[in-house]
Amino acid sequence: MFLCKEENIKKEWNDATESWVDFVRKGKDYYRDELNNPATFELIGDIRGLLVLDLACGEGYNTRILVRKGAKVTGGDFSERLVELAKQEEVKEKLGIRYYVLDAADLKEFSSNYFDIVTCFMALQDIENYEEAISEVARILRIKGRFIFSIPHPCFETMIVDRKRISAARRYFGAIKYHVQWSMERLVKPFRTTSFHRTLTSYFDALYKSKLFVSRLVEPRPTEKGLLKHPPLREVLVIPQSIIIECIKITEG
Ligand SMILES: C[S@@+](CC[C@H](N)C(=O)[O-])C[C@H]1O[C@@H](n2cnc3c(N)ncnc32)[C@H](O)[C@@H]1O
Repeated sequence: MFLCKEENIKKEWNDATESWVDFVRKGKDYYRDELNNPATFELIGDIRGLLVLDLACGEGYNTRILVRKGAKVTGGDFSERLVELAKQEEVKEKLGIRYYVLDAADLKEFSSNYFDIVTCFMALQDIENYEEAISEVARILRIKGRFIFSIPHPCFETMIVDRKRISAARRYFGAIKYHVQWSMERLVKPFRTTSFHRTLTSYFDALYKSKLFVSRLVEPRPTEKGLLKHPPLREVLVIPQSIIIECIKITEG
């Protein structure tokens, strides 16, 4: 069977499900737990009673954190397998999260001007049609609503291109599609996914076109606990691994 480009990317995530879920839920993703989540949730702040969409939510680990912080949360991802596993957790512990299988570039399930916050944790770099996704986020946010997303830092990410590992610091300009080889020993099974290197200008232009105005930017630093427990995190004291951006919808599109 011939799969179109996006179907291939989705298949990679569907195939990675078992390994990904073990990685995330068993605390093996320490870049999440000791670097990105503490900084992102600090930026998100008090969300009690707010309507939040967690876009490209995967198996729902961060979606569940959002709900435990008091928000009313919806999750969406294009991987049917990941959404199925997120729903299974919801059956085990009813948190009131509604999950949808959806493409981030087409959020027809949701009305315009609806959500207070849209989050997208470490996923916009994996979304092929990111400009459409950003435009859809702007549509479904209410005025003064916030879009908060994290991505690998476009200036410093490493990519595998033509089987060679290269740093964006040596090849920053120009968009490129590349593979991410998930091959750490702590994985149950290695897997491969696809990401897109884009410049900061590309992201900021897309936000600007959709009338989402950047209000804050964070280059997270590891927690003290994380540094003691996971020495590789010391690298992040020198070069940022990720970037978190908050933007606000200040006017109608
Ligand atoms: C690195 S994972 C992050 C998952 C989740 N945000 C988390 O923090 O655990 C990237 C996610 O993006 C999803 N994804 C990629 N392209 C997508 C698209 N076009 N629409 C919706 N989800 C997408 C994948 O299925 C995967 O779950």
